[in-house]
Amino acid sequence: MLIMKEIEGVLHFEDVALPAVAEQFATPCYVYSKAAITANWQAFSEQLPAPHKICFAVKANSNLAVLQVLAELGAGFDVVSGGEIARVLRAGGKARDIVFSGVAKSDAEIRYALSQGIGQFNVESDAELERISEIATGMGLTAQISLRVNPDVDAKTHPYIATGLEDNKFGIPMQDALATYLRAAKLPGISIVGADCHIGSQLTELAPFLAALERMLALVDTLAEHDIQLRHIDMGGGLGVTYSDEQPPQVAAYIQAMLARLEDYPHLALYLEPGRAIVANAGVLLTRVEYLKFNGHKHFIMVDAGMNDLLRPALYQAHHDIVNVDCHSKAASITGDVVGPVCETGDFLGQNRTLKVQAGDLLAVKSAGAYGFTMSSNYNTRPKPAEVMIAGAQMHLVRARETLEDVWRGETLIPNEAKA
Ligand code: LLP
Repeated sequence: MLIMKEIEGVLHFEDVALPAVAEQFATPCYVYSKAAITANWQAFSEQLPAPHKICFAVKANSNLAVLQVLAELGAGFDVVSGGEIARVLRAGGKARDIVFSGVAKSDAEIRYALSQGIGQFNVESDAELERISEIATGMGLTAQISLRVNPDVDAKTHPYIATGLEDNKFGIPMQDALATYLRAAKLPGISIVGADCHIGSQLTELAPFLAALERMLALVDTLAEHDIQLRHIDMGGGLGVTYSDEQPPQVAAYIQAMLARLEDYPHLALYLEPGRAIVANAGVLLTRVEYLKFNGHKHFIMVDAGMNDLLRPALYQAHHDIVNVDCHSKAASITGDVVGPVCETGDFLGQNRTLKVQAGDLLAVKSAGAYGFTMSSNYNTRPKPAEVMIAGAQMHLVRARETLEDVWRGETLIPNEAKA
């Protein structure tokens, strides 16, 4: 489905012209397409009917309306904090469809998750397992758990987003997994339901997923020999998207390759935790050009969105295509860096881009629906941008632009000694 399209020379999201969004809600502003989120979701759900399960990784985009759209489609959710559990419930998601990952779950988070009846804890250490057992027993409840195992597979992605290597902080080392499962089987308040892994994010090849699956299935076999039968295996998220010229596997190919391998395991359901693949290409960051600047040898296109709004380029040197919303701009073509207002040299949205652009133009930073707003901050006392959901010809403001009062809420002045 073509979500972003040019109509009479102007970029549209579904049936709404992007300049109309900027006019109504100003810039910078995140814009999401409900149809795109829905289509991306359905690409997964068509391939994985129940008892398989798809748990959207909330960290990729946790706006309540985004979670609502997915909850209405029957999504499960992968969360990494008590806050994300609360968001899912607030948006209409069901507790039993939540899996809770994270290396440092606090007592309060474990208690909250148990009290809400979440579907599964993805347990990342022996110490966490014991803590969950203790808390669940104290509450008279049973926690359903999977162990998050580290399969030691190279995901061949940016080092900051590779998670399944031996040296990463995530999960239980494969060689220790059996011992931890045997402990778990004896602990009160614990019910073993599955095994979990997540090897990294923005993967563009199938091979690492299949290598991880192979190692997980070897573990499933070993556990079966010890009378531990799993109901499902959770292969995490990580399927990459196209930001520029990457060619990640199609969703169907990715899922079918894993299902084919699982044919020998008819009692094992497959769980996935996709984040980026559901929302990245369903969102853009709209930003306006403030100034053009030329320093004698380099051009700068200064825009009103910065690294506090979209951190990925600064943090990972991530590429996002940037286009003029006016597709037939008559402005002169410039090659330079698209930079924001933040006082950091690393504050760029794109480097060495060629754009026909002049001050006042509206630009769309593409594929910004995942890890965009969720990683935004108030650095430089910049209020967080608005978020707008497009549905057909409708625009819904799903998060108001922050005010300065929002930014310093909770801060107080100390008493003035001179007056006291
Ligand atoms: N499950 C677990 C346990 C995860 O840690 C993650 C992502 C996911 C699922 C979802 O992965 P996805 O399908 O979105 O690749 N901020 C980085 C990405 C960090 C991903 C962390 N974990 C970025 O902007 O690229």
